[in-house]
Amino acid sequence: MSTRSEMASSNPGGAASAARPAAIRLQNLSKTYPGNSQKAVDNLSLDVAEGEVFTLLGPSGCGKSTTLRMVAGLEEPDEGSIFFGDEAVVVTAQQLSLPPEKRNLGMVFQSYAIWPHMTVEENVSFPLKARKYARHEIRERVEKVLDLVGMAGMGKRPGPLLSGGQQQRVALARALVTEPRILLLDEPFSNLDAKLREQMRIEVKLLQDRLDIAVLFVTHDQIEALSLSDRIAIMKLGVVQQQGTPRELYDQPANEFVRDFVGKTLLFRGTVRAASAGGPMAIALEGAPDCTVFGHAADPSGIPAGGHVFVGVRPEDIDILPAASGSPPAGVMGGKVTAALFVGERVEYQIEIPGQGAILIYGDRHSPLPEGQAVWIRPRPDGHSAWSSDWREGGSDS
Ligand SMILES: Nc1ncnc2c1ncn2[C@@H]1O[C@H](COP(=O)(O)OP(=O)(O)O)[C@@H](O)[C@H]1O
Ligand SMILES: [Mg+2]
Repeated sequence: MSTRSEMASSNPGGAASAARPAAIRLQNLSKTYPGNSQKAVDNLSLDVAEGEVFTLLGPSGCGKSTTLRMVAGLEEPDEGSIFFGDEAVVVTAQQLSLPPEKRNLGMVFQSYAIWPHMTVEENVSFPLKARKYARHEIRERVEKVLDLVGMAGMGKRPGPLLSGGQQQRVALARALVTEPRILLLDEPFSNLDAKLREQMRIEVKLLQDRLDIAVLFVTHDQIEALSLSDRIAIMKLGVVQQQGTPRELYDQPANEFVRDFVGKTLLFRGTVRAASAGGPMAIALEGAPDCTVFGHAADPSGIPAGGHVFVGVRPEDIDILPAASGSPPAGVMGGKVTAALFVGERVEYQIEIPGQGAILIYGDRHSPLPEGQAVWIRPRPDGHSAWSSDWREGGSDS
């Protein structure tokens, strides 16, 4: 079997999307459920490249499952088109819509969708029997796919004797046994406990590397999305907010919703020193005479030099250390610990910083700082985000 890494060698950049044609193309899909005024999916367009894991990420109710179900043929869009490669699957303008069984895709959902009264083998071979495959071929394929999902030799086991993780593996094997071009996964791990979820994440990643098929994955879990995806679309109320690689979304969120949905952000008041077209801005942090950092603005148009901004800093991009004597050196803000909360992996400090107010900053658990301690806060010099703001000295943030 050819592996993804072999195939990717002609594409050293690594992003599967860069060079390869679209396996799934969604164009201007919209769907409103009867009786609802809000669109469940609103003018959604995206491409999933061959061999790519593309994730729809967003809070509950934002339209992820509806999108997936339209791809599967379980819901009809009101408007829009769906193509698999060159093949038109749905074109509402032409009243074209292939039935689900003609779409040749594999699907795994959140609930364990295996038949409990059947053995593993019976579950997995079901789609092949329905398609009237020859008996020897069924045997071969089932064996191969059970091996693939780590269930080799467990074919005779009855459904009720399977753990939750094994049931999801069987569901995955059943989805893959017909060797579909496209795999749809709708929150497939959310019924599993945290440990198993972590393990399944790694297994699915490795599995997809070997299979090299297009995966459209739905989750509300940002860690799952960041770790598994080549690209992600963040959705809110049926509308895609931003599409990009996990790094692009994390480092350069397009709006505040994306910024706050993916990871945590600390907001510092700052004043723009110099705005550069397209590039990062130099921003002086309020209350610290000698602390200037660089941040990229998703929308620089409303941010003139001299304007007030919030600088978005990821918690891991800031250090906290006990203050030495004298005033803070360049690149450092002074502050004072007003509360220290031990949360296991780290200590969360509330720090009072002149000009900034109280800010929650993470410190490492090995060198705890007492409440009342004077501290120096050192953000990374660059790589932050900048957000237009009308904060005022002594006023409230908004
Ligand atoms: N069968 C349905 N009938 C009516 N409304 C629905 C139906 N399914 C989903 N919705 C509504 O459509 C919106 C999107 O739902 P869904 O696609 O399930 O979101 P997600 O998977 O992101 O949680 C929600 O407001 C939901 O309440
Ligand atoms: Mg859903």
